[in-house]
Amino acid sequence: MPPDVPQMPDPVANGAFIPTLNRQGAIWLYIDEITQAYLDFAAQSKGTMLEIAAGYGHVVIKALAAGAAKVFANEIDAGQLAIIQSRVPTQYSGKIVCCQGEFPEHLDFPDGSFDGIYNARLFHFFDGNRICTSLTKMYHWLKPGGQVFLVNDAIYRTIFKPLIPFYERRVVAGDEWPGFIKDVRSLIPESLHPSTFPATMNFMDPTVLTRELTRAGFEVMRAGFYPYTGAFTLGRLDGRELAGAVGTRRFVGESEL
Ligand SMILES: C[S@@+](CC[C@H](N)C(=O)[O-])C[C@H]1O[C@@H](n2cnc3c(N)ncnc32)[C@H](O)[C@@H]1O
Repeated sequence: MPPDVPQMPDPVANGAFIPTLNRQGAIWLYIDEITQAYLDFAAQSKGTMLEIAAGYGHVVIKALAAGAAKVFANEIDAGQLAIIQSRVPTQYSGKIVCCQGEFPEHLDFPDGSFDGIYNARLFHFFDGNRICTSLTKMYHWLKPGGQVFLVNDAIYRTIFKPLIPFYERRVVAGDEWPGFIKDVRSLIPESLHPSTFPATMNFMDPTVLTRELTRAGFEVMRAGFYPYTGAFTLGRLDGRELAGAVGTRRFVGESEL
């Protein structure tokens, strides 16, 4: 490995995840239903893909192995991007393009660049305005008929149990962003060590994802809660641990029914 490529940390928590270099969450080592749908789409379309916030490239490599013609891998962290580049098997080295940049503000592509876009576990760190901007950019970067695949944390996890009543009260009250919790730590009991939790989270759900995809112009193919099936027991609760969705960019002249 070239000396300027940082060392990828070892997996922790029974191999459930690998911490990021920049303390921006973790890279989760399991494949959920939406991620599998993205990999199936790469296999079937053999197209050009973009993965935003690609971590250490686990899904980038799987998309290439599935048959993607090219994968653009984005990361905000230059060290992680160097790790992605170094991990891609040599037979795919002509098919990977690494793009450093803070999405959505500092990442741009021409209209109609991609067949598929995949993004996991980034929106739950964004506020509503940033999510709107992100989806509008994603929409324009896709070719007509292209698909976006989104995976994010829902609140239904053992580790976030103290936050669930707060979130559900907001859902009942019709809050536009019921999962946006500015001060997560203030709702976590001392016994669970609040300082180890992220400061702010925007837990996603199918209602929010459907509304925002529609607002950006997408046809929503599916949106739902999905189970977390990995090894981290505190990440599990009742099969609603993830909020995921798939949207399609409409063809010109195609309108919402
Ligand atoms: C929770 S990790 C998720 C990584 C991977 N997508 C996964 O699901 O395993 C979030 C990742 O997003 C990256 N990141 C954070 N903010 C970003 C931004 N604005 N644009 C691009 N990448 C970002 C971090 O460096 C980190 O690798």
